[in-house]
Amino acid sequence: MHIDILTVLPDLLQSPFEHSIMKRAQDKGLLTVRVHHLRKWAVNEYGQIDDYQYGGGAGMVMMCEPLAKAIEELSQERSYDEIIYLTPDGERLNQGISNQLSLKKNLLMICGHYKGIDERIRTHFVTKEISIGDYVLSGGELAAAVLVDSIGRLLPGVLNDETSALFDSFQDNLLAPPVYTRPVDFRGWKVPDVLMSGDHRKIEEWRHEQSLERTQQRRPDLLEGSGL
Ligand code: ADE
Repeated sequence: MHIDILTVLPDLLQSPFEHSIMKRAQDKGLLTVRVHHLRKWAVNEYGQIDDYQYGGGAGMVMMCEPLAKAIEELSQERSYDEIIYLTPDGERLNQGISNQLSLKKNLLMICGHYKGIDERIRTHFVTKEISIGDYVLSGGELAAAVLVDSIGRLLPGVLNDETSALFDSFQDNLLAPPVYTRPVDFRGWKVPDVLMSGDHRKIEEWRHEQSLERTQQRRPDLLEGSGL
């Protein structure tokens, strides 16, 4: 998969992809992430990419021209399956959306700033608008990092044990069960006996029950209409 990201703060997007699983995905050649500075397509020599909004009001708006030029230039290199604008008024991100996006080949992500981007770019170029939650960030960069991470780890071959993503929270609309490691007894707090039993069928049953119980307690909304 290839992901291009358009931003006015490229430095903010350096570190998130240089560690751990995102690094491994890139080292294995399964994912490439390119961060592009929008000022490269600025309207003048001062690097201008935003302007006052028509109708008045505080806050700048990211202009059409730099965004349109950037999208068109990058689209010449590859044809995007989705052009995604990260915005608090987008569709709320969930595991299902990440699963679907992980099946694509080329994605372009646009990080908004200030008051956001000119509506005409949303109408004529953007194919998907995503919010990572009901709160407002200073810009779309951290949201893009979250989205890339959630997609990247799902690409086949990225995780060592490919099955492990299948058992993540939210796959099957269930939260993940509790996990334990050594020692068996820490300050008198013991690991549940069933996990030491060696009986894999029993262990799977226990994990499923724990997942259900945890989901019922913490996120009953996930179970509604799922038939579980
Ligand atoms: N930009 C600002 N806030 C955001 C959010 N919650 N999700 C996605 N992009 C954003």
